[in-house]
Amino acid sequence: MSIFSRSDRPVDRFTPPDPKAASAAKYKLDLKIRPRRNRKSDWSRRLVRENALTADDLIWPLFICEGTKTREPVASMPGVERLSVDEAVREAGRALKLKIPALALFPNTDPKQRDERGSEALNEDNLVCRALTAIKKEFPEIGLAADVALDPYTSHGHDGILIDGEIVNDETVHVLAQQALVLAAAGADVVAPSDMMDGRVGAIRRALDNKGFGDVQILAYSAKYASAFYGPFRDAVGSNATLKGDKRTYQMDFANGDEALREVKLDIDEGADMVMVKPGLPYLDILWRVREAFGMPTLVYQVSGEYAMIEGAARAGWIDGDKAMMETLLAFKRAGADAILTYFAPRAAEKLAREG
Ligand code: PBG
Repeated sequence: MSIFSRSDRPVDRFTPPDPKAASAAKYKLDLKIRPRRNRKSDWSRRLVRENALTADDLIWPLFICEGTKTREPVASMPGVERLSVDEAVREAGRALKLKIPALALFPNTDPKQRDERGSEALNEDNLVCRALTAIKKEFPEIGLAADVALDPYTSHGHDGILIDGEIVNDETVHVLAQQALVLAAAGADVVAPSDMMDGRVGAIRRALDNKGFGDVQILAYSAKYASAFYGPFRDAVGSNATLKGDKRTYQMDFANGDEALREVKLDIDEGADMVMVKPGLPYLDILWRVREAFGMPTLVYQVSGEYAMIEGAARAGWIDGDKAMMETLLAFKRAGADAILTYFAPRAAEKLAREG
């Protein structure tokens, strides 16, 4: 209830001005600068646009499963499927046509092959190695990245070796360097340590150089936060069910920003070719700061939970999925990303090919 009675209202009843009436002139503001002039039409908006997204900016993460002609939907990521190796090869062909420069492969390892130490990571014939080799053979021109971390292979779902309830750093780094060699030998062009152990980039660089893989690039997940947004990914690779506890003793505390700069600097000093911030949208401030501070090739990962939120809301009819997708991808470019790992990669590339 208003405290004013009808008769003692402080302002007169107002009728919006009729722009055609002569009296409308009295509302004209005396403005020299009107930012809206540049937005008046499509050609003008295009002309003054500061940032652009192209297919060249995209890396497409693919989940790999056993079998042939197999495509398994990932329930928490509507529209995303795990692919058997032959299907992954097909999709690699599609990515090439769409001018997507690179794929990132993630295996869903058979639970029977997971153990305490993640030994399957060092099997040179493991699922991700078979996928790397098959895709490289068919489409040598596409870039292939593979994660260096033990979580798809450990029975406890952690990225490293677990001893007495602790993820032990230095022993894990030793194994990760071996894993990087296995991936490089199978055809990975880029190895991407996503484990957040201290010193792993340097150890991986030394191992690669010693074994004749001097050309293999390191994409370091440098500022990787302990995030709730990885949930659907862990469904996709099958580590959610098994994960004991959380990853806060190695992934970063999301309250911290300066620490991200220290992490990135360490990785650069140890030999990272490209650095990454992850997740994406809730961490645009970090992305911006990293790009500004180091001017390195800086990538961002629009992670599974971000994809699920957009796609889930779109499928419920609550937002326009295509528009939200393009808006978020452009936001990464504006914040300084050189490239974006996103499950939307083929859809965005198709849209760009259609509409330019
Ligand atoms: C594994 C890894 C994760 C992601 C990429 N590599 C999950 C995790 O650290 O638990 C997340 C990607 C996504 O959520 O899309 N180390």
